[in-house]
Amino acid sequence: MKRTLIAANWKMHLNASQASLLLHRLHERIKIHRDIEVVLAPSSLVLQPMSMQIDRRKFRLAAQNGYHKDEGAFTGEVSFTMLKDLVHYAIIGHSERRMYFDESLEVVRDKVAAAVRNEITPILCVGETHQERTEGETKQVLHDQVTTALSDLTSEEVKDIVIAYEPIWAISTFGGEIAKPDDIRDAIAHIRKQVAELYSKKVADKVRVLYGGSVDDHTVGGYLAIDGCDGVLVGGASLNYHKFSGIVDVAYNLKHADGAS
Ligand code: PGA
Repeated sequence: MKRTLIAANWKMHLNASQASLLLHRLHERIKIHRDIEVVLAPSSLVLQPMSMQIDRRKFRLAAQNGYHKDEGAFTGEVSFTMLKDLVHYAIIGHSERRMYFDESLEVVRDKVAAAVRNEITPILCVGETHQERTEGETKQVLHDQVTTALSDLTSEEVKDIVIAYEPIWAISTFGGEIAKPDDIRDAIAHIRKQVAELYSKKVADKVRVLYGGSVDDHTVGGYLAIDGCDGVLVGGASLNYHKFSGIVDVAYNLKHADGAS
């Protein structure tokens, strides 16, 4: 049984004391759940202090980015080698990085490989723009993003990774349209099909696929009910402790309503 993954992407919000306060509030509200994994992705500056404050039975940390070289003269960058003692996960290829920082398919591929090399599990973000969707290119975009990003990995490495389907038009700061369950189900199935074609069905079934885009405590239940959806990546609502702990509660209730432990 896969653990449901609920990941918070705090983006470029919260300094160290604000992050510490939010973590404190979440710690008060979120219980230890064996079958739910709660992952927090603060700014890289805050990872070190948070790693000392965090209750590891409840939370895991993720980086929001990293540089694909392990060490060297790359002013301003933080490598996955530097992050490896602090985080379990790294968000890679988020649409904001692809759009604002010109991260190409190949850069994303190199970052995925660097994270895996440093024993950090990538949360690889993929998803189409509104225009790509209206032009019927969603499947091609997902194919290109998934195939390129995974191309340096073995099947043993791929089975542990996480892929987040985040249609750009559904992200709250880009438009926040509400994605239809059918669209999400099709996209998630397509992502798994790509992985199965590249590796095997067994590997594809192991990969956890999340949904992300305007998820909050009211909508999360609908997303988690979608066939093949193993969790959610939450942006805006993860900065609000009521909403984020509410999301974890919904995930817990759904698991237990299913009769799973
Ligand atoms: P949102 O962001 O939940 O605010 O739409 C999701 C994301 O960008 O990962």
